[in-house]
Amino acid sequence: MSTLHLHFTSKNQTLTANHGDNLLEKIIEANLDIDNACNGMGSCGKCRVQLDPATAPAPLEDELRLLESDELRDGIRLACLHRIQHDLALDIVSERNTGDTVRVLEDGLTVNTDIEGASLEKIYVELPAPTLEDNGTDEQRLSSRVGADYHNGNHLRLLRKLPVVLRDSRHKVTAVLYNGEIIDVEPGDTTRRLYGVAVDIGTTTVVAAIIDLNTRKEIGSAAAVNAQRSFGQDVISRIQYAEAGGQEQLRLLIIEQLNSLVEQAATTAKIDVGSIYEIAIAANSTMLHLLLGISAASLSTAPYQAVFRNSVGIRAIETGLRIAEAGILYLLPSVSSYVGADIVAGVIATDMHLADEPALLVDIGTNGEIIFGSKDGFVACSCAAGPAFEGMNISCGSVAITGSIEAVRISPGKVDIKTIGHAPANGICGSGIVDVVAQLVLTGIVQSNGRFSKEAATLYADRLRNDGGQKFNLTEDGNVYISQKDIRQVQLAKGAIASAIEVLLRELGERSARIQHVYIAGAFGKHLNIESLALLGMIPPAFANKVSFVGNTSKTGAVKCLLSRRYKEEAHAVLDRTKYLELSVYPGYESLFVESIAFPSPPSTSTPQPQTGEALTVPTA
Ligand code: FES
Repeated sequence: MSTLHLHFTSKNQTLTANHGDNLLEKIIEANLDIDNACNGMGSCGKCRVQLDPATAPAPLEDELRLLESDELRDGIRLACLHRIQHDLALDIVSERNTGDTVRVLEDGLTVNTDIEGASLEKIYVELPAPTLEDNGTDEQRLSSRVGADYHNGNHLRLLRKLPVVLRDSRHKVTAVLYNGEIIDVEPGDTTRRLYGVAVDIGTTTVVAAIIDLNTRKEIGSAAAVNAQRSFGQDVISRIQYAEAGGQEQLRLLIIEQLNSLVEQAATTAKIDVGSIYEIAIAANSTMLHLLLGISAASLSTAPYQAVFRNSVGIRAIETGLRIAEAGILYLLPSVSSYVGADIVAGVIATDMHLADEPALLVDIGTNGEIIFGSKDGFVACSCAAGPAFEGMNISCGSVAITGSIEAVRISPGKVDIKTIGHAPANGICGSGIVDVVAQLVLTGIVQSNGRFSKEAATLYADRLRNDGGQKFNLTEDGNVYISQKDIRQVQLAKGAIASAIEVLLRELGERSARIQHVYIAGAFGKHLNIESLALLGMIPPAFANKVSFVGNTSKTGAVKCLLSRRYKEEAHAVLDRTKYLELSVYPGYESLFVESIAFPSPPSTSTPQPQTGEALTVPTA
C-alpha cells in the first residue's frame, strides 16, 4: 500500500497516511488541534479544513447542508466526512476551544444553612473498657452505645477494623453513620470533621463543591470542562463513542476527573479527602449511565429507555471514586431518559415542589428540558432543541469561551458587541446567538419568516453581504457573522422550546394562569437577555417579567440532598408526582412546532438595553 502525505501548510508539518484513512482520525491521531464537536458524526459542521479549491472533492450532502456555498467554493470541507485518496495540502480552519478557557458555571442558588437532618452524622462515644463481667463483643458494645446497626455494605470491613481502632484509642471512638447505620469508626473525637461533596456532571462542564456538614457551608470547589468532551460534545456522540468500544474509557475519564476535582477542592478547603463520606451527584441520564459504566445505548434510540432512573446509593470505592473508604456515592433520581437528575435537582434547588403556585423550570442545552408544576405535581418534557444554542451548526458558533460574543445591540450604522473577557471577537456563544437574532428581528433586518428583509439591505449595506448566502457581519472585518442558514437553525431551536412550553401550558390547563416564576437554569441561561428571549418568542410574552436565572441548580440540588435526608426523599417523590410527556407522540405537537418556528412581529418600542446595565463595547484586536 503506497504512503500518502498530508501537508499542513501554515504549520509546515507533514503527516503520512494510508489510502482510505479517515482525514479527521489522522488529524486527531497526530495530536493536531481540530474542533470535532460531534466526534466525527458529520452533524456539527465544525471539523473544517481548507483544501485547494481546484482539487477539493465534490461536496457531500452533509457539507451542502452544514457549510455555506462560499466556503464550499473556497475549498472548505469537513474532515470527518473524507477518506484520504491522494496527497493533500491543507490547513485546519476550526481549532478546538481549549478547555481552560471555557466558562464554567459554578454558582447556584444560595442554600439556607438552617437545613438539618443530613444522611451523614458522627457520634462520639467513650466505651467502658471490657471486663470479665462485661465482655460482650466489640460489635455489640459499639452498636448498643451508638444506638444503631451496621450498614450491610461496610459490615465486614468494620469488623476487621473495629478491634484495632477500639483498643488503640482506649475505646474512645467516633462512629460515622449514614441514614442511621454505622458505616465507619474513627479513633478519638472526629465529630468536627464531617464533609460531603456535591457534584454537577454536565455534558460540557463538571463542578464539585465540598460542604462542611457541621456548618452547612461550602468550603471549597473546583470545576473543569468535562473530560469526555473530546469524544463528542453532545450526549448522542458520547453514547455512540461508548457503544463503539469506548465505554470503559469514558467511565474512567469521568471517575479520574472527579477524583482530581475533589482533591483540588479538598486542598482549597484544607481537608483530607479521607474525611469525605458522601458524594452526591446530579447529572443528565446519559452522564449517570456513563459514570457507572452502564450502557446508554437504549437512551439514544426509540423508545428511549433508561436502564435505571431511581436514586442510587452505593459505596463510592466500588466505582473508583477516592473519598473515605466507607464513603457513599449518592446519585439523584431522574424522571425519564431525557428529564434527568439534573432537572430533579433543579426542582429541589428552587423548592418548586413545596410551592403552592406553579412555576416553570427550563434548562436549555442540546435538549431543552422543561418541568412545570408545584406541590400538587408536575408535567415535564424534553424537546430536541438541537445544538444551535451551544454554538454547534452555527457558522461562527462556539461554546462560551474568552472572545465569544455574548451580547449584541444593533441600530442603523452601529453594531455593538460584548465579548467574554472583553477579548477580540472569535465566535458567538449561546446568549450571543439569541441576542443577535433578537436584534435582527427587532430592527426589521430579519422578518418574521426568518428571511433577511430587502429593505434592510440599504440601511445596513455596510454589514450585509451576499457571498454564497446572505450574512450579517458582527465584526467589521466580517470574520464573525450570522448567516441565513444560522437563523434557520435558531428558528428550529426556539420553535422546539416554545412549542414544548405550549404543550405543558395546555396540559396544566387553568393552573398555568397562576404561574409565579419562570426559572432558567444552566450556563446558557445565566447570560441570556430576557427581552431577547421574549422577542424571539421562545417564552410567552406574559412570562417575561417572571423570569429569573437560577444558575447551576444541578449543583444546588445536590448540596441540598447532602444537607438533608428529607430532600433526598422529596427528590424521589418528584418522580412519582411527575407526568412525563413524550412530545413525538403528543397529539398536535407537529403542527404546534411548525407554528412556533416564525418569529413574533417586533414591538414598536425602542431597542432593549443590556440587562447588566453594562455598556456593550467593541473589543480592540
Ligand atoms: S466532527 Fe465533523 S461534522 Fe462534527
